[in-house]
Order: sequence, then C-alpha cells, then structure tokens
Amino acid sequence: MAGSQNRDSGKKAVTRAAIAIVIFLAVVLLLFFFATDDFYPWAKAVHVIAVISWMAGMLYLPRLFVYHAQAERGSVQSETFKVMERRLLRGIINPAMVLTWAFGLWLAWKGGWFSAGWLHAKIAAVVLMSAVHGYLAGAVRKFAEDRNEKPARHWRFVNEIPTLLMIVIVILVVVKPF
Ligand code: HEM
Repeated sequence: MAGSQNRDSGKKAVTRAAIAIVIFLAVVLLLFFFATDDFYPWAKAVHVIAVISWMAGMLYLPRLFVYHAQAERGSVQSETFKVMERRLLRGIINPAMVLTWAFGLWLAWKGGWFSAGWLHAKIAAVVLMSAVHGYLAGAVRKFAEDRNEKPARHWRFVNEIPTLLMIVIVILVVVKPF
C-alpha cells in the first residue's frame, strides 16, 4: 500500500518536471525568436523578480523543515506544514526557477556574455543551486509521506547553502570580477 503510494507520487513528480521543462522550452523559444535588443532591460527586470521569488522560497523552505522535523507525525501542525511546503514549492519556487533560467540564458545570449569568465562561474553556482532545489523538492515529498528521517539540525545546516550560493552569484554578476 505504502509502496504503491510512493510510486504514484513519484510518477506525479515526473509529470510535473516534464511540464516544467515544456514551459521552460516554450519561454526560451519565444524569447529567442521574438524578443528584440530593446527588451534587454525588461528581461533583466523579469529575471531579477524571478530570482528574488526563487531565493525567498529557497531560504524559507528549509526553515519550514526545521520546524516540521520537530512536529509530531500526524499532528495538526505537521499536516499544516505539509500544505505550506507543497504550495511554496509548486506555486513559487518551481515557476520562479524556470523563469530565472529562461530569462538568464536569453540575457547571456543577447548580451554576448557567454565568453565571460564570471558567467561560467555563475552558471556553475546556479547549477549547484538547482541541485539544492531538487534535493528540497525530494524532501517535500518525503515530509508529505511522513518519511523524513533527518533531524532539525540537518535542515538548519541545509538552510545555509542557498544563502552562501546566492552571495557568490550576486557578487559574480554585479562585480564581474573576471
Ligand atoms: C543559469 C542561470 C542564470 C543565468 C544564465 C544568468 C545570467 C544573467 C545575465 C547575463 C545577466 C545580465 C548581466 C548584465 O547585463 O550586466 C543577469 C543579471 C542578473 N542576475 Fe542572473 N543569471 C542566472 C541566474 C541567476 C541567479 C540564480 C541569481 C541570484 C541568485 C541571479 C542574479 C542576477 C542579478 C541580481 C542580476 C542583475 C545584475 C545587474 O544588473 O547588475 N541570476 N543574469
């Protein structure tokens, strides 16, 4: 019974990831074929708005896990955390990441930045951020199925990783040190 529930939620997660990839490709194709040079500052504005939303979620979600890990399984509190985590992930964090990547790649192409050293380092840091995103999305599923085994201390530590990556990424893109 629990096994088939896990398989079902695994299938749903794959479907959601496929939908996110299709939306990402659609936004990228629209930008690459229809957006002109004049759109650059607007694209940067959308990129920064998406970045802020993504980061807000990436900093808040592990914080929720800290409290969720301390709540008793099956309690009202635990069930409330599940709803908060699911809505934060699906409503904010996932779409914000898709928009950040799509607009960031278009900016890099339109601005002729692909040969710049700072962009290579930035993309490497964003790939790491996306990996942390994937790890947190997996944790939302585990918490939803009452399968989290990690203590609050672990989530406190994980909380620091997006903060550090964000500092590195912003310095790279604003200062452009190399
Ligand atoms: C792989 C994904 C990303 C790519 C390819 C990308 C690329 C770019 C490019 C090319 C610019 C324009 C730079 C300029 O015109 O000077 C830009 C702006 C910016 N990006 Fe990203 N970015 C990505 C993800 C992120 C993330 C995750 C963050 C923050 C955590 C971020 C923060 C910013 C900020 C704050 C700006 C505005 C910088 C300024 O106007 O001085 N980007 N990005």
